[in-house]
Amino acid sequence: MKILGIETSCDETAASVVEDGRHLLSNVIASQASLHAQYGGVVPEVASRQHLEAMVPVVEAALREAECSFGDLDAIAVTHGPGLAGALLIGVNVAKALAFSYSLPLLGINHLEAHVYANWLEEDDPPELPALCLIVSGGHSDIVLMEGNGRFRRLGGTRDDAAGEAFDKVARILGLGFPGGPAIEKEAKNATSTQLRLPRAWLRGTNDFSFSGLKTAMLRLARGENGVTPPIAEMAAAFQESVADVLVEKTIAAVRKHRVATVMLAGGVAANSRLRELLRERSPVTVRIPRPALCTDNGAMVAAAAFYKAEDGTANGLALDIEPGLGIGRS
Ligand SMILES: Nc1ncnc2c1ncn2[C@@H]1O[C@H](COP(=O)(O)OP(=O)(O)OP(=O)(O)O)[C@@H](O)[C@H]1O
Ligand SMILES: [Mg+2]
Repeated sequence: MKILGIETSCDETAASVVEDGRHLLSNVIASQASLHAQYGGVVPEVASRQHLEAMVPVVEAALREAECSFGDLDAIAVTHGPGLAGALLIGVNVAKALAFSYSLPLLGINHLEAHVYANWLEEDDPPELPALCLIVSGGHSDIVLMEGNGRFRRLGGTRDDAAGEAFDKVARILGLGFPGGPAIEKEAKNATSTQLRLPRAWLRGTNDFSFSGLKTAMLRLARGENGVTPPIAEMAAAFQESVADVLVEKTIAAVRKHRVATVMLAGGVAANSRLRELLRERSPVTVRIPRPALCTDNGAMVAAAAFYKAEDGTANGLALDIEPGLGIGRS
């Protein structure tokens, strides 16, 4: 079964053809990051206009690379939330037009579930369930219990900034540019000392995180309010360590409590090498993490998330609408 996955929820225009929910036949991503870098963050209106320009060439390239035509497809899947409204509208309307024109089933996909399903890609076997998922991205940070395909229960998450948002804001404080996650990771590698220790908000007895105190601590440090300002690389490394330490400890606590078989990382921040390393070091159960390029937004994860639905014959009609505020596993 071949599914075309379309993703336009934020600043990546992406399309991919995936076979049987795991084999990548193509994965085309037009990133707008350099366009938004001059503003220090994603400008929604600019993102929508860029999606409009890039969408058709990106879909065409995805089919060309997969060496297939619309007639070879079994379904079209598209992210319909959460995300920027104007950006989501482009992907959803293009997907509807294609589904209508080629008489293909249309599937609306939750972007956060799609991040989790990146763990199905390029693997022989699906992860053993139930699994504990840590979804850490630019707009979300959630600890979610996955009980079965499409069955998620949110256990907790951030009380303020998303992990990726904290990386982006701290990178700005340190003058490291946008997107902040990769910039901080790169800078942290230059640290010659690991003496600097930043605060951690444990919020004991909950599955929640908070990064606002850490962000303020970084601001004070960078401004020299504690005396001498440490080198930027050391501040970047200490920040990354503090975020990774808290995320991994809280995730492992939930893994033990819920006695799951697998723990999975998902979302853009899952590309972070220190977070990946710490989780692998400390987890008592099997760890699944997508390769870094599949952690950030892409169309392949959307197609992967659609596979089990398409197999069941589930489809949305052309009345499918965007849901910018969609969450995951909320009761
Ligand atoms: N190597 C890395 N280390 C830490 N953070 C990273 C790394 N690579 C990317 N990120 C962060 O991941 C985020 C982008 O992830 P993603 O593309 O999943 O976010 P999004 O789609 O904008 O948000 P959401 O998925 O919540 O809608 C950015 O905040 C970025 O700084
Ligand atoms: Mg994302």
